[in-house]
Amino acid sequence: MSTAPILVIGSTGKTGSRIARTLTRRGFDVRHGSRRSAVPFDWDRPETWGPALSGVSSAYVSYFPDLAFPGAPEKIAALTECAATAGVGRLVLLSGRGEVHAQACEDIVRNSGLDYTLIRAAWFAQNFSEGYLRDAVLEGLITLPAGDVREPIIDADDIADVAVAALTEDRHGGALYEVTGPALLGFDEVAAALSSAAGRPVAYQPITLEQFHAGMAATAGPMIADVLTGICRETLDGRNASLGDGVQRALGRAPRDFADYCRSAAASGAWQQAA
Ligand SMILES: NC(=O)c1ccc[n+]([C@@H]2O[C@H](COP(=O)([O-])OP(=O)(O)OC[C@H]3O[C@@H](n4cnc5c(N)ncnc54)[C@H](OP(=O)(O)O)[C@@H]3O)[C@@H](O)[C@H]2O)c1
Repeated sequence: MSTAPILVIGSTGKTGSRIARTLTRRGFDVRHGSRRSAVPFDWDRPETWGPALSGVSSAYVSYFPDLAFPGAPEKIAALTECAATAGVGRLVLLSGRGEVHAQACEDIVRNSGLDYTLIRAAWFAQNFSEGYLRDAVLEGLITLPAGDVREPIIDADDIADVAVAALTEDRHGGALYEVTGPALLGFDEVAAALSSAAGRPVAYQPITLEQFHAGMAATAGPMIADVLTGICRETLDGRNASLGDGVQRALGRAPRDFADYCRSAAASGAWQQAA
């Protein structure tokens, strides 16, 4: 086992924080990769990439804000070049299921000449407790352009466990893991599970893509609204309504259930509001 550090890009985020925590608990030397870390990593400052990648055995790459944003393929390509120059042993890329832009970035990593593992993830459960849908849970109304589509929502703890395996074990080289939860869930079922765990009413209301875009444009601006609406158009049209076997293949165990996530998020105080 290498004693060189492992770089976790996005180490303060939903997946990266879990990966960094688990690696540290298991005795690995973790180099945190965020704009605030000791060796900073900033996607908007390429001069930070070389020092962050220098001397690491492997690197976890979660792109911010999303691989669908303009400029992402160019940055992923430049990062792979930087990683090759630094002699990084393996890149572990977090990608999104059913997303054309994300899969173009997977191809860049696949064709980079570096050893790699691709983690193609379903919707994260933690979107509802640590992400942009937490406020919707607190307000009791989740509005999404999802109709009655069913999504195999995954717990970020499972993504982190797959990533830790890929960062530390040889056998994941060249693998593509489609990671999903164990069941397809309609967003009405998601709302019911959240409601029961959070102890407050939470409903789901389907909206059109146009309504979603208008809401996003009003709060985040037209460019972000365009990209996020594009992601919804791709990922909520039914193409992802199937289960992936990535957690089972990488870890030899089943993924965690959404109801378990709800219970542990509630127990950790995720939906308590400051008095
Ligand atoms: N949410 C989903 O359902 C879903 C599903 C599939 C795939 N994905 C993919 O997941 C990725 C995001 O991963 P995540 O949810 O674990 O992260 P996240 O929770 O969105 O965390 C964002 C991370 O990015 C960092 N960050 C923000 N701006 C940065 C910048 N300019 N340069 C460097 N780092 C920056 C933040 O660190 P600092 O602020 O400390 O710098 C933080 O560590 C996206 O690429 C998305 O496509 C998400």
